[in-house]
Amino acid sequence: MCGIVGYCGERDAASILVEGLKRMEYRGYDSSGISVGFDNKLTVIKKKGKISNLQAALPSKIPGTYGIGHTRWATHGEVTDLNAHPHSDSSGKITIVHNGIIENYITLRKKLSENGVKLLTETDSEVIAHLVANFYDGDLERAVKEALKHLEGTYGIVAIHADEPGRMVGARNGSPLVLGLGEDEMFLASDVTAMMSYTKQVVYLEDGDIVTVDKNGFKTTDIRDNERDKTVSTVGWDIGEIEKEGYPTFMEKEIFEQPQSILRGMSGRLDIDQGTAKLGGLNMSSKDLRLVNRVIILAAGTSYYSAMVCSYLLEKIARIPCSAELSSEIRYKNPIVDPNTLYFVVSQSGETADSLYAMRELRRKGATVLGICNVVGSTIPRESDGGVYIHSGPEIAVASTKAFTSQLTAMYLFSLIMGRMRDMSMSQGKAFVDAMDGLPAQIETVLSQNAHIKTVAEKYSDCTSFFYLGRGLTYPIALEGALKLKEISYIHAEGYSAGELKHGPIALINEVTPSVFIVPKDSLREKIISNMKEVKARKGPIIAIAVEGDEDVAGIADDVIFVPEAHELMYPFLMVVPLQLFAYHTAVALGRNVDQPRNLAKSVTVE
Ligand code: M6R
Repeated sequence: MCGIVGYCGERDAASILVEGLKRMEYRGYDSSGISVGFDNKLTVIKKKGKISNLQAALPSKIPGTYGIGHTRWATHGEVTDLNAHPHSDSSGKITIVHNGIIENYITLRKKLSENGVKLLTETDSEVIAHLVANFYDGDLERAVKEALKHLEGTYGIVAIHADEPGRMVGARNGSPLVLGLGEDEMFLASDVTAMMSYTKQVVYLEDGDIVTVDKNGFKTTDIRDNERDKTVSTVGWDIGEIEKEGYPTFMEKEIFEQPQSILRGMSGRLDIDQGTAKLGGLNMSSKDLRLVNRVIILAAGTSYYSAMVCSYLLEKIARIPCSAELSSEIRYKNPIVDPNTLYFVVSQSGETADSLYAMRELRRKGATVLGICNVVGSTIPRESDGGVYIHSGPEIAVASTKAFTSQLTAMYLFSLIMGRMRDMSMSQGKAFVDAMDGLPAQIETVLSQNAHIKTVAEKYSDCTSFFYLGRGLTYPIALEGALKLKEISYIHAEGYSAGELKHGPIALINEVTPSVFIVPKDSLREKIISNMKEVKARKGPIIAIAVEGDEDVAGIADDVIFVPEAHELMYPFLMVVPLQLFAYHTAVALGRNVDQPRNLAKSVTVE
């Protein structure tokens, strides 16, 4: 969602801020702006729409070596130039950028208005600038701290003052903020990508941190002026990973990276000799794991579908009751926490508000919650009791692809560990390890059919509604395939368990509504084939994702995309990839903005 970047140093701040904002475009936004300080004045320029609109509005040169920038994803107030950040106080000497939501902003606006302050925007964030001004007495850090005492809600904030050149004050409570340490320059951003061209040395700020920064250093304190020690970390990936490297879009690049990202997620974690796996970050001994008698996995969106796959898998191979729950639902269910239930929260970004708040609620009730996340240093892994990084590398496209298969990888490894402690024999474990080991090469084979998948996608791209049908482990793959198509092509698509077809949806089958059937070679294959025949009998077009050589399926479907034959538990990996490519090529054929689909944000940091 919204993105923050701040800079102080010796270079041209405006161009560094705009570059940082562009790096964060993937998060989703609808307006942007910068404020640059020079000669005891702040120049503020903000524009609705794409960053190119902001760039077009910038004068050829804005002098100044410190400033702040923001990409806004509207929550309070329409998408207008005025509502875009940075927000200024009435004197124009102070500007702030804010991520999060100020819950008591209506009360604060009222009080400020009663005191004669003229509020210019409809946002919750503007009150912060006026509050800081209200407490300003020559010390920005002090004024920010006083202002924070009046705020309720979540925030990542950076403030600058025209009379304190070269200084930024940042604060974090519930919205990420990272400090970047360069040589004679410092950065503050909500996302490390904004500063990756300049430094890999970072400090992940924590809730309650207030940081005062100039080009020579930083000081971190809490609201009562107690010093807070910080550790400097090195970002573990390179700038190339957030560039397209010859691909037309990030989404296509990320789909094609899956053989490597899956391999990275398994690397050093498979135990070939014992037919099991090792996951150091769980922070649980074998004895602790043996006591677990139920697993609940929470997540949202695509992460929820990977959680669903694993709930099926864990029950199947470890014989432990397991369910996937939507984070947005579990939090308000007043969940019953049993001490022998182990919870996971799965989140690519590690910042999804629904998942984070659900995790906090469960931990408050005494639950053990482990995270399965991609973004290192994000809030969920930092607040959880342990967990696993999926190491898929930065995922920039809004539609999640490689993170999905990497989440599966991590949860497959966990399921294997649990399986081998219970129901799985050594030889079954070894066969599972072998099958996982073979996945990268098999996914390469699926990817090599890109041209065929593109032809199929183009053939159906004028359809207005699709069904996706799967069963068992590939039922969540049907849901994920439908979500991908919706997100980036804006075509209506519904995922169903194929077993549900006759319980209602078959009424919608007609000549112009294609059904995408996912047909692995497993015990449910015959039943899915029957469903395909039922659709065919009603003249519904069929696209099948099937196993190489499955002539029965090929004989019924209008179009088939084959995947290599594999261990029956590995088909979720192999069958989701063609669906990602199908959605991708459909969206491209329709001229959609694949990487930044309308209305969507990469990381949903508000409820
Ligand atoms: O960062 P998370 O995995 O917690 O995000 C959850 C969902 O918001 C996310 O998967 C969303 O559904 C994606 N746009 C899917 O492509």
